[in-house]
Amino acid sequence: MAMGLRSKLNHGNSSLPRSPPYLFSSVCLLAFLSLAALLVLKVDDVAYQTKTVAGHNLKPTPWHLFEPKVFDEGTSYSRATKIVQCQYFQCRSNAIPNDPQLDPSKLASCPAFFRYIHRDLAPWSKSRISLQRVMEAKEYAAFRVVIVGGRLFVDFYYACVQSRMMFTVWGLLQLLKRYPGLVPDVDLMFDCMDKPAINRTEHRSRPLPLFRYCTTNEHFDIPFPDWSFWGWPEVNVGPWDAEFRDIKRGSRSRSWPKKWPYAYWKGNPDVGSPIRSALLECNNTKQWRTQILRQDWGEEARAGYKKSKLSSQYKIYAEGYAWSVSLKYILSCGSLTLLIAPQYEDFFTRGLLPKKNYWPVPRTDLCPNIKQAVDWGNSHPAEAAAMGKAGQDYMDTLNMDRVYDYMFHLLMEYSKLQDFKPIPPSSAQEVCIESLLCFAEPKQKQFLEQSATSLASMPPCVLPNADGRILKRWKMLKERIMKDVAQQT
Ligand SMILES: *[C@@H]1O[C@H](CO)[C@@H](O)[C@H](O)[C@H]1NC(C)=O
Ligand SMILES: *[C@@H]1O[C@H](CO)[C@@H](O)[C@H](O)[C@H]1NC(C)=O
Repeated sequence: MAMGLRSKLNHGNSSLPRSPPYLFSSVCLLAFLSLAALLVLKVDDVAYQTKTVAGHNLKPTPWHLFEPKVFDEGTSYSRATKIVQCQYFQCRSNAIPNDPQLDPSKLASCPAFFRYIHRDLAPWSKSRISLQRVMEAKEYAAFRVVIVGGRLFVDFYYACVQSRMMFTVWGLLQLLKRYPGLVPDVDLMFDCMDKPAINRTEHRSRPLPLFRYCTTNEHFDIPFPDWSFWGWPEVNVGPWDAEFRDIKRGSRSRSWPKKWPYAYWKGNPDVGSPIRSALLECNNTKQWRTQILRQDWGEEARAGYKKSKLSSQYKIYAEGYAWSVSLKYILSCGSLTLLIAPQYEDFFTRGLLPKKNYWPVPRTDLCPNIKQAVDWGNSHPAEAAAMGKAGQDYMDTLNMDRVYDYMFHLLMEYSKLQDFKPIPPSSAQEVCIESLLCFAEPKQKQFLEQSATSLASMPPCVLPNADGRILKRWKMLKERIMKDVAQQT
């Protein structure tokens, strides 16, 4: 296209008339055509170079490859039009509205597991976080988020699978909308793929701050609420509050004795998880009291996948490639969760207590251990039902208000450690609610709008102070209970 215009320009040039009155108009014409050519070149630039929150012009993360997203926007012109329209004409000077009228008499304390924020950030409590340290974490990041004065900027490095990036950035924008004027300025690196990357041994001398959806005891990665709290359109999972309400309502339709007295798991066993492969061996209701089913994502996505999981007394949680977002839905069912000792943890599971909200299953001797849990439950139905209910109650306290509060406090504590003033880099794009919605496809837009929040009427809950002894006591208590359970086998 550009070449064609260029040759037209050359042609025009060679046939310039000589007389001065025409010269002027010819020069004008030439200038106009050059401008048009420049614009066409620019359109191609925009269409094939501008990186966006929808994933335009981004390659998959090299550390976790996946099928790149295909955009069906037709010509480069229509693609460029969309990008220009969404990226450059949506975010107005979103001036911060008046300070929210938060009623301080309504101060509530945050759930106890919020203490883990202090532990997650402890590696930087002495060294603090320098800009240089943040930039070193870039090597592991899919994008960089800079919040300044309540405005959000994103520097895009790699695409994230499906719509994870869009829904994660949406969550941050909702936080800003919820607590205007309260969210501190931050500059942070984020990886949206599954596995933690900052090994505690390898990075001991120089921990790098990197946000993601899960961590382990052996990693410095900082856990942050995953995208599915705002929705997961690819599998028809709606925003968390609505999903929880539905699951809880469904779980009440059948009393405990009417539920099926077996352990049940349905999912995708082919995700390279040794635990899920081992689980296939337990598929025998007579021998192991267990039924294992393969999930048909196509069919489930149409039917709504949580519906199928409501009616057995015991639900198995087995982590996948890393942590799995399914845990929150399983715990919500009101069945007793048989939680196979996980390696990965997300931000909220650290507050669960074995034999209070779930039954711990060791990773070894998997089938006999599941059978033993089911046999225990079947001979202690009241206790088993109470533990199932305690799991559901735990998820009930984790409503979206608390999820936003967790994000708020994590960013607040992180910001206190920064020893520099965040400034968006020139390569970053401002993203606001309007621009993100503008990029969303119709189905994504529908899910995003369902999870939109509004101005908070209450201030964030009060963060418990850092008290390493309490976390240590929890850890010891957990270990003691697990040991007890193992000895019963
Ligand atoms: C962390 O790194 C050490 C040393 O390279 C290695 O032995 C260990 O397996 C790694 N840990 C994880 C969880 O990858
Ligand atoms: C488990 O067993 C049931 C019944 O025998 C069967 O229908 C199902 O396909 C099995 N599951 C898997 C994953 O093979």
